[in-house]
Amino acid sequence: MEAAAAAGRRGWAAETPKIVWNQSQQRFETEDRKAYLEYVLRDGGQVMDIIHTFVPPSKRGLGLASLLCSAAFDHAKSHSMSVMPTCSYVSDTFLPRNPSWNALVYMEDIKSSM
Ligand code: COA
Repeated sequence: MEAAAAAGRRGWAAETPKIVWNQSQQRFETEDRKAYLEYVLRDGGQVMDIIHTFVPPSKRGLGLASLLCSAAFDHAKSHSMSVMPTCSYVSDTFLPRNPSWNALVYMEDIKSSM
């Protein structure tokens, strides 16, 4: 739902690029697999650590990385996971522009003090 909203903001209402979950390779990716977000699972699968986001140069600036992140955060939310924003695109661009997702961000200091 969040991904669709992001697409709408970018004017992709007619043909939103579809984001696919590639479970075996731990990625969210476009159908042509050229743009992707890579993650590793931590804490026995409770934490999705987003380690890398990549969009081919010819497709940058259109919000594709934002769509990939929205799909990953949607997935994490629906699986009751928290998200570690190791990738700088997530920490420096996606989260500041989509602050509602901050609630899902993994907070190590809180956990370690519990
Ligand atoms: N870290 C944080 N933010 C970045 C960034 C980076 N390395 N590279 C670009 N951005 C920001 C820009 O400020 C840009 O802002 P603008 O909208 O004002 O122009 C914004 O991302 C664009 O957002 P969006 O259109 O959703 O992203 P994109 O589809 O163009 O993809 C990247 C962004 C970072 C995935 C793409 O530039 C890329 O693949 N870069 C090479 C790999 C990389 O550096 N990955 C991130 C670190 S893991």
